[in-house]
Amino acid sequence: MKKITIAIDGYSSTGKSTVAKMLAKELNYIYVDTGAMYRAVTLYAMRKLFIKEGYFDKEALVRHLFMVNVKFALNADTGLGEVLLNSENVEREIRTLEVSNFVSQVAAVPEVRKLLVMQQHEMGKDKGIVMDGRDIGTVVFPDAELKVFMTATAEERARRRFEELQQKGEDVTYEAVLENVQKRDELDTTRKDSPLKQAEDAILLDNTHTNIEDQFHILLQLAKDRIYGR
Ligand code: DC
Repeated sequence: MKKITIAIDGYSSTGKSTVAKMLAKELNYIYVDTGAMYRAVTLYAMRKLFIKEGYFDKEALVRHLFMVNVKFALNADTGLGEVLLNSENVEREIRTLEVSNFVSQVAAVPEVRKLLVMQQHEMGKDKGIVMDGRDIGTVVFPDAELKVFMTATAEERARRRFEELQQKGEDVTYEAVLENVQKRDELDTTRKDSPLKQAEDAILLDNTHTNIEDQFHILLQLAKDRIYGR
């Protein structure tokens, strides 16, 4: 059966990764969460104190990038990839609000993007992949057979993210999460290198009022159309 590349881009907390994972599972494709890769580099910078008290020493991070190794390891129980930073599983540590607050600044560094995009190309070279992020359809795989761009209102996205963080026991307020969502939108769409934008040939999916199941069925149909050439 023909294998395709599926690029899912969009704003933060639009549920990209949830539908992307469902789609990958259904199609038996590899799923890659590229946001996790930027988060892992951010965690590295925080641990090395290149990010401290609101100050980010970009040059120091760039000088140390050759020592940063980001990979995915399959969790046999969930069947999903978990991110490894220099061989340490950091899947949990990269999801905190602290990392979220700095990740857009790290993701704006061209040297970081160059390194991670190179690795993403390698991961997707055999197709049969669902990759989610911000620049997958525009920069990483501009020839992807299926491109989707996901959006929802900032308030709805903040509400979803707030619930998720609360369930994990993080001590946050809705207002702080909304502020983070809005700040990231601003940074992600205005950065010079590979800003978040909808590819011309991407299908727009606004899921403010659509549930996960419906989104999944829409995307699965679109993917099947590409795979079977309908
Ligand atoms: O999807 P996420 O929220 O985990 O992504 C974290 C950050 O990483 C987000 O603010 C933008 C950045 N990112 C990016 O610039 N390019 C990607 N392909 C994926 C994420």
